Amino acid sequence: MSATIRPSVSLQRWTLADIPWHAIQRERVARDKELFHMVSAASFVEITTHLYTRNLIEYFDGDAEVTDWLEQHWLHEELQHGEALKRYVQIAWPEFDWERTYRDYLREYSTCCKLEALEATRSMEMAARCVVEMGTASYYTALSRLSPEPVLNVLTRHIREDEVRHYKYFYGYFRRYRAAEGSGRTRVLQALWHRLKMIDGEDAYIALKHVYAVSHPGEPFDSRVYRKLQKRFRHLVGGHFPHQMSAKMLLKPLELGPRAQHIATPILETLLRRLVA
Ligand SMILES: [Fe+2]
Ligand SMILES: [Fe+2]
Repeated sequence: MSATIRPSVSLQRWTLADIPWHAIQRERVARDKELFHMVSAASFVEITTHLYTRNLIEYFDGDAEVTDWLEQHWLHEELQHGEALKRYVQIAWPEFDWERTYRDYLREYSTCCKLEALEATRSMEMAARCVVEMGTASYYTALSRLSPEPVLNVLTRHIREDEVRHYKYFYGYFRRYRAAEGSGRTRVLQALWHRLKMIDGEDAYIALKHVYAVSHPGEPFDSRVYRKLQKRFRHLVGGHFPHQMSAKMLLKPLELGPRAQHIATPILETLLRRLVA
């Protein structure tokens, strides 16, 4: 049911064959409900990247450098994240019917969710993509730090490195488009803020809803349950979240001078600690 990965070429840093699946220490994660929910929901969202981002590649039509990279590397790597997390879930929590639950997720997701709303200009869209990659890079950094299981640690570190690299590409393209379009700092800030507000999106909500339905049969899932789960996840992630890295990645597209950067980074870091921890 999930998308087929067309292996890309030389830029690929790792493949599923590099993960020592046989070495997974199931007993370390078998009863960890939070981790099960977080990894399973992440696998659903990643493996569905092609659906909600199919308008992204069209948006950059005519810029072969960007569309080639998106099609041949970025998309392929995001789908591989989904495939790898799926395989981890299937080995670590074999009683969970990944395929069936994903089918239910996809059915609901594809009827209720529209394509991602893109920003008004290409430079702003690139700034928004930086926020998305900052979010995933931070999430997988935290997951790799908190994982009590060595193979999950290795896997999430690989994914984290990909997300950081994606950020760098989007940031490079952002600079090129910002120079061409002459976008001001206020406009960039608006795009960053707009995307930041959407980071805890509908895809994550629906993914968690379907995983929860399996782990808590017969129990209703609503925004109250969702908030409760989020609180438990935040508690788990908080101490491992790379606040400083996230703050720097968020501020970078604003291209502040060294003094302003020096003042803004710890302020944003504190804000992130309040929001995430
Ligand atoms: Fe990803
Ligand atoms: Fe990414």
